[in-house]
Amino acid sequence: MEAKTRPKSELDFRTGMTFRWAFILLLSVSSLQSTESLSVTGTVGINYGQIANNLPSPSEVVELLQSSNLTNVRIYDANPAILNALRNTSVEIVVSLGNEYVATMSARSDKARQWVKKNVAAYIPAGTNITGVLVGNEVYSGNDTVLKENLMGALKNIHSALVSLGLDKSVKVSTAHSFEVFGSSFPPSSCVFSDKTVAYMKQLLDFLSATHATFLVNVYPYFAYKGDTTNVPLNYALFRPSDGVVDSKNNLHYDNLFYAQIDAAYAALAALGYGKVEVRVSETGWPSKGDDDEVGATPDNAKTYNGNLLERLRKKEGTPLQPNVSVQAFIFALFNENMKPGPTSERNYGLFKPDGTETYDLGLKGLKRIVSSLSPPPSVSTGNGSKSTPTTTITPPSTTTPTMATDASTNSTNSSSDSSSAKGMHSLVFVSFYLQVLALSSLVSVVILEH
Ligand SMILES: *[C@@H]1O[C@H](CO)[C@@H](O)[C@H](O)[C@H]1NC(C)=O
Ligand SMILES: *[C@@H]1O[C@H](CO)[C@@H](O)[C@H](O)[C@H]1NC(C)=O
Ligand SMILES: *[C@@H]1O[C@H](CO)[C@@H](O)[C@H](O)[C@H]1NC(C)=O
Ligand SMILES: *[C@@H]1O[C@H](CO)[C@@H](O)[C@H](O)[C@H]1NC(C)=O
Ligand SMILES: *[C@@H]1O[C@H](CO)[C@@H](O)[C@H](O)[C@H]1NC(C)=O
Ligand SMILES: *[C@@H]1O[C@H](CO)[C@@H](O)[C@H](O)[C@H]1NC(C)=O
Ligand SMILES: *[C@@H]1O[C@H](CO)[C@@H](O)[C@H](O)[C@H]1NC(C)=O
Ligand SMILES: *[C@@H]1O[C@H](CO)[C@@H](O)[C@H](O)[C@H]1NC(C)=O
Repeated sequence: MEAKTRPKSELDFRTGMTFRWAFILLLSVSSLQSTESLSVTGTVGINYGQIANNLPSPSEVVELLQSSNLTNVRIYDANPAILNALRNTSVEIVVSLGNEYVATMSARSDKARQWVKKNVAAYIPAGTNITGVLVGNEVYSGNDTVLKENLMGALKNIHSALVSLGLDKSVKVSTAHSFEVFGSSFPPSSCVFSDKTVAYMKQLLDFLSATHATFLVNVYPYFAYKGDTTNVPLNYALFRPSDGVVDSKNNLHYDNLFYAQIDAAYAALAALGYGKVEVRVSETGWPSKGDDDEVGATPDNAKTYNGNLLERLRKKEGTPLQPNVSVQAFIFALFNENMKPGPTSERNYGLFKPDGTETYDLGLKGLKRIVSSLSPPPSVSTGNGSKSTPTTTITPPSTTTPTMATDASTNSTNSSSDSSSAKGMHSLVFVSFYLQVLALSSLVSVVILEH
């Protein structure tokens, strides 16, 4: 992958209209109000991926979430064991419908209604706080045209089903995007959707706007850094003190790449006339381990990124472009997932190891307390001296109601596939953004004087 470069002439052209453009942009987004969609009681969420064969039971995971104050969770399916384990807890959950269901849900409103009844409506009166349904994952950045054509129909049918069941106010419908849906994103305030995706975005944004739902995008500064370690300063990617970057069009200063990427998304929405739709981050994270060519995937960097991210999110602050809208993000991911395909990094995004202990110290409690209160596992009491894996599984309350079994549950491995496969390309746009900001920085002072 090559970072895109832009001819000098275009840079010059753009600086000429910097301030007027930025003014219009700010006007169009200034009245954004925080919506209730995919509501979260806090700003910190976590992605609970399950592509692994060694994870703690759902009831243990609920303990883990609560002890770590991670009360907003997204899963990649509608696993009944998880939804049951969350009954009467303070944890709010967003469920997902995998890409493999999109065609059916689009063609058959009766199937959509059936799915919502079984996987959403059945749980809410029983005490599971489902606040959103994500239909499809990274669809518009992919190559499956049929899937893209079907996504809007599926979103609408799921939403209509929620309306008919009286749940549309508390359960919002959206879809998660890869950062690749954007084309030019230099500087953040002039980010636009790629030619390939823009045709789909208008109707999606119409839908999100009409239903008061949020635009969700996966944001991985890690890939910007990995893609160009020379020009993307590690400190800027990790929220550590750095000179940061100034957006030449509106003079906003960015002290971290994560916020710059979120504001790029806001700008792309505003450019299509949807400046009032709120942007939230469906995935962000940093791997603690990678292959030799995965520069930056270290425990230290992962700890720094996720630690600083948590600190920022807990402050409930906004971005430079949207200072009044708290950034909300789902961190990727809760656990290292040992069965994820792809490079080593893919299996090492977790804040926790499968045994429930922290991957690196973020001050989260983990499962230590629970594990230590367990009665000794059989392998210890044999006196064999065997260190064979003591299973830490606490017998879960038998809350799994077979009649609630979802289609998703029978396809759990497939349907829980999280989206990181396409992460690698997300941030190349930002490599080029950063390069060009460097190139432009000398022009900024001239522009300020001229206007
Ligand atoms: C943010 O809120 C402050 C105080 O209410 C207001 O003055 C400012 O215009 C708002 N900024 C934006 C971008 O909405
Ligand atoms: C579910 O979560 C929403 C959003 O935070 C909250 O407003 C609501 O009170 C919660 N419902 C229950 C039953 O706890
Ligand atoms: C969770 O939140 C409570 C109340 O705000 C706080 O006392 C506690 O330290 C937090 N725990 C963690 C692990 O952050
Ligand atoms: C959840 O709370 C409701 C109302 O308090 C109660 O009827 C129900 O039995 C509880 N369910 C579980 C699984 O604890
Ligand atoms: C889509 O197709 C292009 C060109 O064939 C390829 O480079 C790219 O990796 C594909 N993207 C996905 C998500 O499969
Ligand atoms: C004792 O432990 C070893 C592994 O260290 C195991 O292979 C063996 O089967 C165990 N024997 C009994 C009787 O549990
Ligand atoms: C599982 O997913 C496949 C597509 O991946 C689909 O054809 C099949 O019908 C699904 N199984 C169930 C039980 O829904
Ligand atoms: C997904 O399902 C298909 C068949 O529907 C199967 O061939 C494939 O191995 C499954 N993928 C995983 C990761 O289990």
